[in-house]
Amino acid sequence: MIVLKNDWQLAKMRSAGHLLHDVLCEAKAFIAPGMTTMDINDFVDERIRKGGGIPTELGYMDYPASVCASIDDEVVHGIPSRHVHLKEGSIISIDVTLALDGWQADSCFTAAIGEISKEKAELMCVTEECFWLGARQALHGNRIGDIGHAVQTHAEAHGYGVVRDLTGHGIGREMHEDPSVPNFGEAGHGVRIRQGMTFCIEPMIAMGRWQVHELSDGWTIVTNDHSPAAHYEHTIAVTNGLPELLTLPDFRWKDSQEGEICV
Ligand code: MF3
Ligand code: CO
Ligand code: CO
Repeated sequence: MIVLKNDWQLAKMRSAGHLLHDVLCEAKAFIAPGMTTMDINDFVDERIRKGGGIPTELGYMDYPASVCASIDDEVVHGIPSRHVHLKEGSIISIDVTLALDGWQADSCFTAAIGEISKEKAELMCVTEECFWLGARQALHGNRIGDIGHAVQTHAEAHGYGVVRDLTGHGIGREMHEDPSVPNFGEAGHGVRIRQGMTFCIEPMIAMGRWQVHELSDGWTIVTNDHSPAAHYEHTIAVTNGLPELLTLPDFRWKDSQEGEICV
């Protein structure tokens, strides 16, 4: 069941999104070689609580931490550890969900640790471009398949693999609501996008093939071919017929068709 949000509910989700944006901006600036993924977890956890929020990944289906920190061939759900140090040349995806006043926001970025290879930089850039190409399809009257089709077309044009096992999702009072928002699919297919819908678009793109598996920790998803992967996510609301980026407060579309593509 898809829960459409009214203006009052959207205002609540906007506040949650803006808090998460502040937290992730600070986390981005905090990340440095040598620190552990648990240092990032602790920083983010404290910052969420200081802002009046609750880190909702902690305890979600017994997940043991407040952030997901996934390095190189880890696609998503990497569990923070005091034993994992950030190494120059790695890429790390930091995926965080919080609740403010009972309303959820969910966002992820992939960052470079020190100097990285041209190939990894390109993967990060294209994954962000995939996000924007998908996001600009989130228009009243379009369909969910338009988003996945845009993401898949761009990723595969670069020879990358689109992870199929995990998808974007509706969001609201719950972290995961309907509809599912796959990063692959056919234009013109799937649920019709409507005013008041709130969902996360989150391309998970591998440099190599798309197949993944779960590690024995029961959480971490890694690529089968151990190629590096990038992940980029925002929470979106369809307001005034356009995608409003709840977790990127200052962003405005230049016009109804033209998204801002990373360079
Ligand atoms: N933030 C994730 C998402 O994008 C969910 C995290 S799973 C958890 O859907 F177990 F860490 F909570
Ligand atoms: Co997320
Ligand atoms: Co999500």
